Amino acid sequence: NWAGLCLIGHSPGHSPGTGPSTAPGTVLAQVPASLEVVEAASREDSQSCVDPLSAMEQEAEITQEMGSLHGIPLYKSFIEGWPQVKAFQARPDDLLISTYPKSGTTWLSEIMDMIYHDGDVEKCRRDAIYNRVPFLELKAPMETSGVELLENTPSPRLVKTHLPVQLLPTSFWEKDCKIIYMARNPKDVAISYYYFHQMAKIHHDPGTKAEFLENFMAGKVPYGSWYDHVRGWWEKKQEKKILYLFYEDMKKDPRQEVQKILQFLGKELAEGTVDRILHHTSFQEMKKNPAANYETVLPTLMDHSISPFLRKGISGDWKNHFTVAQNERFDQHYQKLMAGSDLHFQMEV
Ligand code: A3P
Repeated sequence: NWAGLCLIGHSPGHSPGTGPSTAPGTVLAQVPASLEVVEAASREDSQSCVDPLSAMEQEAEITQEMGSLHGIPLYKSFIEGWPQVKAFQARPDDLLISTYPKSGTTWLSEIMDMIYHDGDVEKCRRDAIYNRVPFLELKAPMETSGVELLENTPSPRLVKTHLPVQLLPTSFWEKDCKIIYMARNPKDVAISYYYFHQMAKIHHDPGTKAEFLENFMAGKVPYGSWYDHVRGWWEKKQEKKILYLFYEDMKKDPRQEVQKILQFLGKELAEGTVDRILHHTSFQEMKKNPAANYETVLPTLMDHSISPFLRKGISGDWKNHFTVAQNERFDQHYQKLMAGSDLHFQMEV
């Protein structure tokens, strides 16, 4: 019973429910099964919870079993919400931010919200990033789903998804929505995902790094195979309006990547505005920004003391974690799964 957790949302800088992007009366209860849950309500709110759960019971409720959605491993609660996601009605001016998990989704989301608000930092502090850019397929019992949150979001909406291309609700294609995909090299994704499994309590213990690496390579992790995901979206780019970006390019030359985004949107911004966007979305700034760093999430759902959500924010951290043997094995497997593709990754910058 998620409701028992009494997860009333908290908008950084606002009292619950007052964020301008939030429809009146919307309870900002974030889905605990999500990786995007909000800070606990005040003591008073907690007291109003019917039947509060013990810490152990809460943890048991938070951790999600994995199921299979059309062959893709996914949290069971998300699968239960699939009919609503499948039937989701995109609007022509929606912009979709699509990524495999841990590829820089939050970074790109903050950049996009800043662009949409002409570099107005205060406007981008109006709410937590998971409310400003709702997560399409997010779902847990008794809580506001991503779809519901999006339905209450005024246009033009920014929408986040981790769905593989073949599972994207058809309405995004029918409405010809703009899509930005961001990919990151698989070695850094695997390490980032490992630490995320430890800190985000929706997950069972990921085991050792070696075990997790095997599962990652085999696609036995939420959202399945990284290889299929990046290739699927890459191939779709031949026929659809998709801007395909790389985390490593964004690290190397964020100004150039922001310019690519502006061109894709057909938008111009003054140089000073771009400067402000780059400063505000730097790792250091985002790490200390409660509207961007996920620290507003209830600690029983995300434990930043184990590993912060904004952990390192670099390219090539895998070198501090992979053994020589693991790296060789990973490279061999990578060559096999990426063979025949003109999609290439920089493993460090
Ligand atoms: P690390 O765990 O390697 O540090 P997502 O938002 O898709 O979950 O991705 C999270 C990863 O993006 C984390 O990687 C996080 O630190 C990194 N990240 C978030 N904001 C960033 C920024 N402004 N610059 C660089 N990396 C960022």
